[in-house]
Amino acid sequence: MRSRTHFCSLLFLLLAASPSPGRADDYGLDEEAATPPAAENCDGIFLTYTFLRRSKEYPHVKNASAQAWAFESVATLLNTGRQDLQGWNLFIGFQHGEILVSASGAVLTEGPEFPAHTDLKNSIDTAGDINQIQIEVQLKGTQFGLRDPALPMPRTLKLLNDGYLCPKPTRHGSVMYLCCSRDPKFKANKMAATKFLPRRAGDLTIAYDVLQAFEGKYLAQVTLDNWNPLGRLDNWNLTWEWKRGEFIYSMKGAYTHLKDASSCIYGEASTFYQSLDFAAVLNCQRRPVIADLPQNAPKPSSSSSSSRSPGHEPHSSLPPTELEDRRRPQPRLPLRAAAKGQPHGVPGPFGLDAVSTAVASWQVVCNITRPKAKASRCCVSFSAYYNDSVVPCGTCACGCADGLVCDADAPPLLLPSEALLVPFNNRTAKAKAWASIKHRPVPNPLPCGDFCGVSINWHIYSNYRNGWTARITIFNWEGYTFKDWFAAVQLRRAFQGYERVYSFNGTKLPELHNTLFFEGLPGLNYLMPLSEDKDQSGGSRVPGKQQSVISFTKKLTPGIDIEAGDGFPSRVYFNGEECALPTDIPRADAGRAIAASLSWFRSR
Ligand SMILES: *[C@@H]1O[C@H](CO)[C@@H](O)[C@H](O)[C@H]1NC(C)=O
Ligand SMILES: *[C@@H]1O[C@H](CO)[C@@H](O)[C@H](O)[C@H]1NC(C)=O
Ligand SMILES: *[C@@H]1O[C@H](CO)[C@@H](O)[C@H](O)[C@H]1NC(C)=O
Ligand SMILES: *[C@@H]1O[C@H](CO)[C@@H](O)[C@H](O)[C@H]1NC(C)=O
Ligand SMILES: *[C@@H]1O[C@H](CO)[C@@H](O)[C@H](O)[C@H]1NC(C)=O
Ligand SMILES: *[C@@H]1O[C@H](CO)[C@@H](O)[C@H](O)[C@H]1NC(C)=O
Repeated sequence: MRSRTHFCSLLFLLLAASPSPGRADDYGLDEEAATPPAAENCDGIFLTYTFLRRSKEYPHVKNASAQAWAFESVATLLNTGRQDLQGWNLFIGFQHGEILVSASGAVLTEGPEFPAHTDLKNSIDTAGDINQIQIEVQLKGTQFGLRDPALPMPRTLKLLNDGYLCPKPTRHGSVMYLCCSRDPKFKANKMAATKFLPRRAGDLTIAYDVLQAFEGKYLAQVTLDNWNPLGRLDNWNLTWEWKRGEFIYSMKGAYTHLKDASSCIYGEASTFYQSLDFAAVLNCQRRPVIADLPQNAPKPSSSSSSSRSPGHEPHSSLPPTELEDRRRPQPRLPLRAAAKGQPHGVPGPFGLDAVSTAVASWQVVCNITRPKAKASRCCVSFSAYYNDSVVPCGTCACGCADGLVCDADAPPLLLPSEALLVPFNNRTAKAKAWASIKHRPVPNPLPCGDFCGVSINWHIYSNYRNGWTARITIFNWEGYTFKDWFAAVQLRRAFQGYERVYSFNGTKLPELHNTLFFEGLPGLNYLMPLSEDKDQSGGSRVPGKQQSVISFTKKLTPGIDIEAGDGFPSRVYFNGEECALPTDIPRADAGRAIAASLSWFRSR
């Protein structure tokens, strides 16, 4: 089975610039929320939510329900049970339009839910050490409505961890509490037994693992895993925002575009780390941009960290809470908020065999999105033996600049097949001449070109009783080479009949339905750039090209109607990007035209 999972890993040594991150400023609230006596009778996890205070925010308005208030409250989790609670996950069901501004000691995920920053130990193993069995989360935010002296309490409070049953909370004035007990019927799955939760599923996962923490510094590893066989992970840019004044002292496996310590030297960090040689600091940006090593740079072995026994967890809020992927020209991946996972196995210092446990981990999952109209990075043209016109790539398939003297919305003009060999901006004369031969109207202004750096032609080459063939040609109009290129096509109707591809290495992708995967055979894994040389007629520059014929049998796809369009792909990918398909297909003849286009659209 094919496994195209890419793995990248980089290591940081980070220093946090604020003197005692997360302690003085966040835990210094004068009121301690007293534990209600009900905790005495709790065998499980005792949760409380205490509203502390609020004050009117500007603007002060007459309409009481529109008034904004700044509020402070505190939530606690106290482990009164016999077992540790790993990776606590608290849900606070707010109901007054609350917007949380900060939550110390916790990471906000989507919605008002707080994945843990530590595990909650049990009382027995810690001799009742309150610091290990209790978590306090200080909340600050804005809330709307409710006249004084009403108390803006949440609607509900509960523990989201598996294996616990939570009753409705009890409310006394500004305090709300409940005791979640273990569900005797709950069976821990196998993963729970190994202590590690699985990483969340998605096309790309980005994990941030703290491997070692020392006084004032920690070692973190960021791992990017590409799980989608059609995804591609190179030339990535990754960025996040440090929330606690961390800066990157050193890094392996990736680089930052900017190596600059000046904002440390003139900032808080230099006061705190007075003896540090800032000349050696790699990057002090609040939003560093971490980039993939250039392709020819020697990559370090998958991990070169030393991950010895985990130290104490640093109290700084480690997670870069706003991870953002700035890869381009890669698939677009919308991100979700960073979520804390269980500490999990990370590759040890000697490669992938030895697995050690991270002190703390955060995870971001990204899924590939489909390209928006006129924003693809590659496009497809269709042609067939039964029609001498090529249906070219869509107008502005890869976007059009403003102010062009052409029509960005008109459908493209049909082309003679030789026009596919010249750059789209040199096709005008050929397209016009072809229209005149075919007695087709030529609009004024003309439709714009496709503006794609890569285009793929899918040509129905032959069709006979027992089988048929297609020819795929990939054109590179860019000035650079694609090394290790790959392409994929989804064939809804025709997939089952796939026999072989002649000049590429083709495989069926078992994990994706009806998708064929193509890559270059050894030695043919380069898609060359647009050449400097002109073609024989002395006109245009010649694109880089890769071409192969693909054969299909009809035995497994009885009733397949090639001339009605069943042989055209429903999706095409190049190097992890989904390409724009034309909106029409070559039709066999006027009589069959309607049937053909109907079946085409039905199949999409
Ligand atoms: C008061 O504010 C609320 C929330 O913004 C709004 O729905 C309501 O219509 C307002 N009432 C009046 C009388 O303006
Ligand atoms: C991403 O896709 C996977 C599997 O297709 C799905 O389980 C997961 O919920 C998706 N995640 C996000 C963040 O959309
Ligand atoms: C990565 O970021 C750098 C600096 O912002 C930028 O110059 C570069 O074009 C980006 N690379 C990609 C592939 O987007
Ligand atoms: C084709 O690709 C598969 C999967 O990557 C590989 O196992 C196989 O050796 C390749 N075949 C050739 C002829 O290169
Ligand atoms: C092709 O188009 C380019 C860019 O518009 C132009 O510079 C070049 O002269 C054209 N070549 C021909 C043969 O028309
Ligand atoms: C070829 O296909 C195009 C696009 O569907 C269609 O407009 C044209 O009429 C066809 N030509 C012939 C000769 O059938």
